[in-house]
Amino acid sequence: MTALVIPSAHDQTITFAQVAVPNVAADELLVEVKAVGVGIHDSYFLPRERSYPFPIGIEAAGVVAQIGSAVIGYVPGDRIAFISMMQPKGGVWAQYAAVRSDSLILAIPEGMSFEQAAAMPVAGNTTLRALHALSAIGEGSSVFVAGASGAIGTFALQLARARGWRVAGVDGAMAVQPQTTGDSARVVKQGGTVVTISGDTETPPGVKVTGLAYDLDVQEELLALMDDVAAGRLQLVIEHVYPFSDALNALAKVQTRHARGKSVLSLA
Ligand SMILES: NC(=O)c1ccc[n+]([C@@H]2O[C@H](COP(=O)([O-])OP(=O)(O)OC[C@H]3O[C@@H](n4cnc5c(N)ncnc54)[C@H](OP(=O)(O)O)[C@@H]3O)[C@@H](O)[C@H]2O)c1
Repeated sequence: MTALVIPSAHDQTITFAQVAVPNVAADELLVEVKAVGVGIHDSYFLPRERSYPFPIGIEAAGVVAQIGSAVIGYVPGDRIAFISMMQPKGGVWAQYAAVRSDSLILAIPEGMSFEQAAAMPVAGNTTLRALHALSAIGEGSSVFVAGASGAIGTFALQLARARGWRVAGVDGAMAVQPQTTGDSARVVKQGGTVVTISGDTETPPGVKVTGLAYDLDVQEELLALMDDVAAGRLQLVIEHVYPFSDALNALAKVQTRHARGKSVLSLA
């Protein structure tokens, strides 16, 4: 199959290669990848143990092609979106991916394309966790988003408004990009909250700085978000759908950190 890989331990230059379709363990699904969500993390969010050439990528949508002997609840042909992280066999920038059944796996609602579905898992999951981190903020309060036109921010603005928050200066803030916690804190009132999404370690005085709670289960909320997008109640902003052959340009675009929504690769 064709994949976008890190070739070897000595050559980390991401490039196209022909690699074997991964074997499926008892607790895994083999997914025929139809579309891929692109994020800045794709070039560096990698399992420590990995075999080369190693396909990159953590978020995609596709069709279940094969089901491990211990996996229940799926049939071949199921349309799913998923996050497959730290998979030593390789990631999802490939025609096929082996996905552990305990990964975040979401049935794609009717009416939603593979490209839309691939754009949702990471941005939706992260936004929902960030909203939980700011849950002490009451209706009618205000929130500031550092990175509002990007993949996370375009969801965050709409969902904040839906909670009755005003999006401006402010009781709480989402610092989406690195080194934005300090700036965000300056627009938050004394005692307000800044949720740091990029993992900043700054702790500005006068505000509570919090990260995302990864032990929180937001799967049902994410499915509801996908339903909202499929039904047109929530806008999913996709900046550009690139053909798979253009994957390196998509990666270069997200690395600028000046996205207007999400970038997606299509393998259709
Ligand atoms: N913790 C987690 O689980 C998790 C999960 C996913 C992503 N992340 C993190 O979230 C970030 C990516 O978010 P994303 O996918 O939404 O990115 P994105 O789509 O690339 O975001 C682009 C947006 O960020 C704005 N921006 C860039 N630098 C900025 C700065 N210094 N100050 C204020 N705004 C800035 C851009 O505005 P302009 O173009 O107008 O400058 C644009 O609105 C990465 O740092 C990633 O590591 C964390």
